[in-house]
Amino acid sequence: MIKIDNLSKRFNGKNGKVTALNDINIEMYDGDIFGIIGMSGAGKSTLLRCITLLERPDSGSIFIDGNDILTLNHQELRKARRKMGVVFQHYNLLMQETVAKNVAFPMEIAGMEKSQIKKRVQELLILVNIDDKADFYPTQLSGGQRQRVAIARALATNPEALLCDEPTSALDALTTKQVLNLLKEINKRLNTTIIIITHEMSAVKAICNKVAVINEGRFVEMGLTKDVFTNPSHDVTKMLLGMEDI
Ligand SMILES: Nc1ncnc2c1ncn2[C@@H]1O[C@H](COP(=O)(O)OP(=O)(O)O)[C@@H](O)[C@H]1O
Ligand SMILES: [Mg+2]
Repeated sequence: MIKIDNLSKRFNGKNGKVTALNDINIEMYDGDIFGIIGMSGAGKSTLLRCITLLERPDSGSIFIDGNDILTLNHQELRKARRKMGVVFQHYNLLMQETVAKNVAFPMEIAGMEKSQIKKRVQELLILVNIDDKADFYPTQLSGGQRQRVAIARALATNPEALLCDEPTSALDALTTKQVLNLLKEINKRLNTTIIIITHEMSAVKAICNKVAVINEGRFVEMGLTKDVFTNPSHDVTKMLLGMEDI
């Protein structure tokens, strides 16, 4: 379970301080597919970067299975990071390395044994249905295929949660559907908690059981997707849902 209490983050922008996150509170349970939706600049990526420890918040707590990850020492942090897999919009693959090597990379860093890595790479590539491309380079793959590799890599260390920042925003409609279906299947098969950050309502609708709407660094609405979508209360939610008569 991921529990966030009173999380805030400010940046020094060109025109003074920018409040990217303003007193964020949320609970995400094991097995949830949680959508976090908001317009550009709302604070979505900053939130994901704080949860994955790529960014340090100014205040607040992030509890993962009861431990506040903001209080961990260096060594504990490295372990905690392995519990979280991250998937980015632009895949962030190593372009000079093969698909198999990209997926092996986090396991090599974790110090896993070579034969074990090889076996696990094969398993993961089968899971994301790209095992026939193990020796290809990212440049030889389509966007959807690259994102499958990125998902396999994110799962390499058996994370409890998979955090995806706009995972389908660079993909066409059909490929988006396929990648979302893959995430849903992973959630079902491995019970991995999935957090999807997006500005696309359709992506949330397709696979998220819960959704939180973020606006100007604050959550303005959250709940079961079906409730929020059938009865949106905030103007931003209505706008994202495409209702013009607000
Ligand atoms: N490193 C940074 N330095 C200064 N401002 C930042 C930085 N990162 C994000 N911001 C600002 O914080 C706000 C939230 O950004 P971000 O989390 O990237 O939004 P989103 O992902 O929802 O589009 C924006 O106003 C953005 O300009
Ligand atoms: Mg973003």
